[in-house]
Amino acid sequence: MGVTVSATGLFEGRALRATRAPRETTARRLSGIAVVGLGYWGPNWVRNLVALQAASRLAVCDYDPLRRARAASLYPNVETAGCLEQVLDDSEIEGVIVATPVSTHYPIARQVLEAGKSVLVEKPLATSVRQAAELVELARRKGQVLMVGHTFEYSAPVLKAQALIADGELGEVFYLSSVRANLGLFQQDVNVAWDLATHDVSIALFLLGQVPQTVSCQGRAHYRPDVEDVAMLTMDFGCGLVAFIHASWLDPNKVRRTTIVGSRQMLVYDDTAASDKIRLYDKGVSIDSYRDVYDDFQFAYRQGDIRIPRVEEWEPLSLECQHFIDCVRRRAVPRTDGLNGLRVVSVLEAAQSSLRRGGIPVPVEIPRI
Ligand SMILES: NC(=O)c1ccc[n+]([C@@H]2O[C@H](COP(=O)([O-])OP(=O)(O)OC[C@H]3O[C@@H](n4cnc5c(N)ncnc54)[C@H](O)[C@@H]3O)[C@@H](O)[C@H]2O)c1
Repeated sequence: MGVTVSATGLFEGRALRATRAPRETTARRLSGIAVVGLGYWGPNWVRNLVALQAASRLAVCDYDPLRRARAASLYPNVETAGCLEQVLDDSEIEGVIVATPVSTHYPIARQVLEAGKSVLVEKPLATSVRQAAELVELARRKGQVLMVGHTFEYSAPVLKAQALIADGELGEVFYLSSVRANLGLFQQDVNVAWDLATHDVSIALFLLGQVPQTVSCQGRAHYRPDVEDVAMLTMDFGCGLVAFIHASWLDPNKVRRTTIVGSRQMLVYDDTAASDKIRLYDKGVSIDSYRDVYDDFQFAYRQGDIRIPRVEEWEPLSLECQHFIDCVRRRAVPRTDGLNGLRVVSVLEAAQSSLRRGGIPVPVEIPRI
């Protein structure tokens, strides 16, 4: 048995049905915005903020002078800062995007919120449920926007898959299976579950519209003690619905594939495909139980057409960036708000606990805030 996902049944009724490319908005520009962390990922934020002309002033912050110099050479109007305090002391900076290593998310986000500014924290929101819950509470107390960088919840194929599931195209959803594997990039401070599987947990919770009851996780650390480079998570949602996630930094091929199997159709989302990232397979199984003896069930396999739904693509980070700016302007609750981040961290923390206990199922407990 699986589940039927309702059209508006996502958390707190904020299902997203956006299937358009991002629009330019004419609302007021922010007085200032900042990006902290100019390593591998931060420069993508800077590029999008520049393209969107989101704020009158754009500041970038990194300890590393070479990384600051590179940003300044690419974008001469961008201001640079060598430490977070410079950004926090600047009253014109209304929002801060945190693209630093995972273990620094919580202390930096807390400082930003304490300084009375809105914050977007890259995934995952924090490294523990306690930290994530504290950030949600702090943002509420300060009346600031707290958003988490669950990028795939802004991607066109994921939004399309969610719409197809919610419209009942797949029928009853039986299971979801995701693979996110490639060679590297090894992280210093978190294992592959907190790094790569975060994306798939966020995608699965978004597509299925619910939080698993338990998570079990197995993994192995081949290069650095206790930093697993390969992991397999099983999320049990009850009612027969299950999701499997395989995450690896040790794979010869880059794979980003999610399969969702339903009673009516099956959906495959391949994010590495150059085009046609979503395919719907009219395949399935039915049982003709016309005989009255248990062993005599006859399986009939349906091998129908493969359909490629039209998906208008855009850069997910651009939509995410625009959404953060709009939320800061309007003081609105983001789609991937602190509670969304807390749910994903709750799953990851349960997975971590399972990993340390030989893969036993661990309940996912989300604190009420
Ligand atoms: N959404 C996505 O698809 C996606 C993709 C990749 C990475 N990420 C996330 O982006 C974040 C950064 O990842 P990365 O691979 O770019 O890391 P990185 O190690 O390459 O870069 C981090 C940068 O932050 C700087 N930094 C660290 N602490 C700082 C501080 N207190 N003040 C100023 N600068 C500081 C470092 O000097 C470094 O330049 C992580 O949270 C990661 O999970 C998200």
